[in-house]
Amino acid sequence: MQVPLLDLKAQYATIKEEIDEAVAQVFASQYFILGPQVKACEEAVAKYSSCTYGVGVSSGSDALLVALMVEGVGVGDEVVTTPYTFFATAGSVARTGATPVFVDIDPVTYNLDPAQVEDKITDHTRAIIPVHLYGQLADMDPLMDLARKHDLVVIEDAAQAIGAEYDVRRAGSIGDYGCFSFFPSKNLGGAGDGGMVVTNDPMRAEKLVVMRTHGSHPKYYHKVIGGNFRPDALQAAVVTVKLRHLDDWTRARQANAARYDHLFQAAGLVDKGLIALPRVVTSKHIFNQYVIRVARRNELMTFLKEKNIGCEIYYPLPLHLQECFAYLGYQEGDFPESEKAAQETLALPVYPELTDALAEYVVDTVAQFFT
Ligand SMILES: Cc1ncc(COP(=O)(O)O)c(C=O)c1O
Repeated sequence: MQVPLLDLKAQYATIKEEIDEAVAQVFASQYFILGPQVKACEEAVAKYSSCTYGVGVSSGSDALLVALMVEGVGVGDEVVTTPYTFFATAGSVARTGATPVFVDIDPVTYNLDPAQVEDKITDHTRAIIPVHLYGQLADMDPLMDLARKHDLVVIEDAAQAIGAEYDVRRAGSIGDYGCFSFFPSKNLGGAGDGGMVVTNDPMRAEKLVVMRTHGSHPKYYHKVIGGNFRPDALQAAVVTVKLRHLDDWTRARQANAARYDHLFQAAGLVDKGLIALPRVVTSKHIFNQYVIRVARRNELMTFLKEKNIGCEIYYPLPLHLQECFAYLGYQEGDFPESEKAAQETLALPVYPELTDALAEYVVDTVAQFFT
């Protein structure tokens, strides 16, 4: 049996006609950058995320960068975020010239621990970037309280969390900005790179639009220096089609997660303390990843791969220990929960098309590893 980590071919097979038709329309129009397809996608994603404005950009990384640029974050500024995330979260901060300031995670959700944030706030702090890792929101209420108290901007890195909810509020709608990625492996993935910033603030939306085209406003006149963060119509067309199916796919992911929970418990692996399952502590987890914790993680990963089961480590080295961030002066031991998570976590296939038989094979194989 073969179980891929993600099966985009299976997904495409279910929506081929709609996608092909949407792509054909883009080619017929020969309108490849910005334009009506992008506008429709922006409106649909903003609405889906309970936001008034959506501004399409070239990637999730650029969504973070352009939001920071609109806020004028740069040299001398500090931005508080988690070291247990994809590189782009802190990379975008560093690209503005500002300093990423890391705060450890809550070991249950793997998200920024609000209790540790205030100690890191200084006169130079400008923003907080919580990441909604694996599809579950960070603990936003205490983070928003801190941000308001210290007059900080909140940029939600919602790249993995479109449609997820915290107290029935959608990812991206709680902070000042929400940043999404349409990287193909995301729950709402395009056919290439793409991203979007959502916001409820009309001034910020206007500035985002200007910043994504080199700060040009009116055309060929530049009061600010932006970049080329323009989204392309092909991605917008694909994302708009896929958005119509997203709730169904999310329900399937949630059902797969519940089935794993049940099967792992029934196999006795949880009670014996051999594996820890993901915990849902918010009102809606969208399971971009289903991540278990295992002490012998690397051995288990090798074993699963030998048995043709796709699995992946998100992420093997926390950002404070990355070579490129050595200049920040962090050391091993600075963020023990992030470091422990990097040693113990393993993502298993949870994609919507995963069948009962495939899920059972995954659980049986994990159980076999421990016997
Ligand atoms: C948490 C997080 N932030 C940012 C990004 C960057 O998105 P992109 O790959 O679209 O630039 C990703 C996805 O890759 C991500 O998972």
